[in-house]
Amino acid sequence: MEMKELFDLALKAAEGSYSPYSGFPVGAALLCKDGSVVTGANIENRSYGLANCAERTAIFAAVANGKREFTALAVATPKSDYPVAPCGACRQVISEFAAPDMPVVFGPSWDNRVDTTCAGIYPYDSLHELAKN
Ligand code: THU
Repeated sequence: MEMKELFDLALKAAEGSYSPYSGFPVGAALLCKDGSVVTGANIENRSYGLANCAERTAIFAAVANGKREFTALAVATPKSDYPVAPCGACRQVISEFAAPDMPVVFGPSWDNRVDTTCAGIYPYDSLHELAKN
């Protein structure tokens, strides 16, 4: 699948955002090794700290459904005027399941995006040796 197609699915996924507190919808689309795509959106709460980002929504949904290997991630922030990168918590979660060279694209639109990788957004990643299975 082309990255543009994956990005378009992330934009579409942002329509599922529940973000009445920030007014900032985010969509994520995760390309799985089996060729399927799992999407997610940010889901907020009136207890503000409980917001779950689009990236983690997508990754948790995928992993909960038996998919643990991913080949690309697209994140769409349609209401930002510059490419908003995944937050620190999401970078750690992405790195749990993604290879360092996995392509990551983020931005408000295809024409205003950053093309990078898992290692690009999360350098000095460590402690993978703690995984037991
Ligand atoms: N958010 C995401 O879902 N992903 C990001 O990469 C950045 C931030 C959400 C969290 C919160 O619902 C809103 O955007 C504002 O921070």
